[in-house]
Amino acid sequence: MRNWTKALPTLLGFVMLLGACGSSEADRELSAAAAAGREVALDKGCAACHGDNGEGSIGPPWIGLAGSTVDLEGGGAVVADADYLRRSIVDPQADIVAGMTVKMPVTELSEAQVDNLIAYIEELR
Ligand code: HEC
Repeated sequence: MRNWTKALPTLLGFVMLLGACGSSEADRELSAAAAAGREVALDKGCAACHGDNGEGSIGPPWIGLAGSTVDLEGGGAVVADADYLRRSIVDPQADIVAGMTVKMPVTELSEAQVDNLIAYIEELR
């Protein structure tokens, strides 16, 4: 019993430390614009399909997307540059990623929000 009560605060401290590391992980290396983009993604529901940290779920992952070559539905491929990212966000049906069954919805976004989202996705490359 004495050992247990002694160990508990240490254990709690350790768990809290782990928690602190985990939560700062996501925005640690992001620029201000990219961190704002991540907020938009969480706020506007993008994260529901693309993951809280861009890891993807029913939508394709954003991690490693920028600069990569994307295969499109119906054949062909495109390099995911800033123009492609912008088009994918403001006009989701313009280029459909091959093999996707879910349709990405159109979201009302300001120019600044789109810029921040692109900055975020580019920093996940
Ligand atoms: C209902 C789920 C859903 C939501 C919400 C959603 N997306 Fe998507 N997104 C998809 C799917 C599915 C695709 C792949 C098909 C396509 O290209 O339309 C996609 C494709 C993309 C792509 C291109 C990915 C690639 O691999 O080429 C980008 C960039 C993107 N979404 C950004 C966003 C942003 C930013 C938001 C929020 C404003 C958002 N998405 C909201 C499902 C979603």
